[in-house]
Amino acid sequence: MEHLQTQGISLPRLGLGTYRMQGDACRAAVESALALGYRHIDTAEMYGNEDAIGAAIAAAGIARKDLHVTTKVWNENLAPDAIRRAFDASLKKLKLDHVDLYLVHWPAKGMNLPAMFETLLRLKEEGRTRAVGVANFNIALLKTVVEEIKAPIACNQVEYHVMLDQTPLRKYLSSKAIPLVAYCPLAQGRTATDETLAAIGRKHRASAAQVALKWLLDQAGVAAIPKASRAESQRANLDALNVELDDEDRQAIAVLPKNKRFVNPAFAPAWD
Ligand SMILES: NC(=O)c1ccc[n+]([C@@H]2O[C@H](COP(=O)([O-])OP(=O)(O)OC[C@H]3O[C@@H](n4cnc5c(N)ncnc54)[C@H](OP(=O)(O)O)[C@@H]3O)[C@@H](O)[C@H]2O)c1
Repeated sequence: MEHLQTQGISLPRLGLGTYRMQGDACRAAVESALALGYRHIDTAEMYGNEDAIGAAIAAAGIARKDLHVTTKVWNENLAPDAIRRAFDASLKKLKLDHVDLYLVHWPAKGMNLPAMFETLLRLKEEGRTRAVGVANFNIALLKTVVEEIKAPIACNQVEYHVMLDQTPLRKYLSSKAIPLVAYCPLAQGRTATDETLAAIGRKHRASAAQVALKWLLDQAGVAAIPKASRAESQRANLDALNVELDDEDRQAIAVLPKNKRFVNPAFAPAWD
């Protein structure tokens, strides 16, 4: 598995997303993924599954240094003391003494970015998270974080897939050597039934979903965190790393409509 080096951490380029997985089903899915070789698990306090993930990690017995765990603070908890409380609760549920990456899940109206990053970076200094980062930040917000506050963010996690153009954001991130972690990399499963992707897949004995995933992972500085509860899909997503797309495939994917966003920022309270 290839890794991205960023702010002192080594981020496996393919991780397991866990949104909408909970309880025993979540624990079973994460145990399955770890047994198959996944070493990057993406969760968040908002997903309500950190305890199930903690149980799966404990049962797997993988050396902590070989595992990458990302969790996120919800955007109602961005005041310094609220970040600390949320972080302590996440760590306890995960049954870990540190996480690898702690992200701001969504920006919030009126958030105090310098105070937030001061708190996040103190957690880093204390060794309780190895790196910090953001999710769902647009270029204007990133400029404030990176160029004014000069916070060493290890990634921006955003929606990105074959049906959504992220060229301006990707260019900005790559100019600052910050990885883009693609969420909804399979467009919430919709890529599996796309005819163009299926036709490309037939050429390479791959599925449409595998083509969509490899298209992302062929891009420098991009990691992806597909959610898959079934072992069969988890394995297929790992196997996607071996698919070799050619220029003709990339051209066919380039002309697919790229204006489809499936996560609506308006769902986040206080989104501006
Ligand atoms: N930071 C944020 O604001 C944010 C927002 C949204 C998501 N995320 C993160 O990103 C992760 C991924 O996004 P997502 O879960 O919304 O969507 P996604 O990964 O694009 O799609 C997940 C769907 O694709 C299906 N699937 C997985 N592998 C497949 C394969 N090989 N062939 C066919 N179907 C396949 C899954 O089915 P099964 O589960 O039935 O196997 C599931 O229905 C989330 O779980 C979460 O960790 C972050």
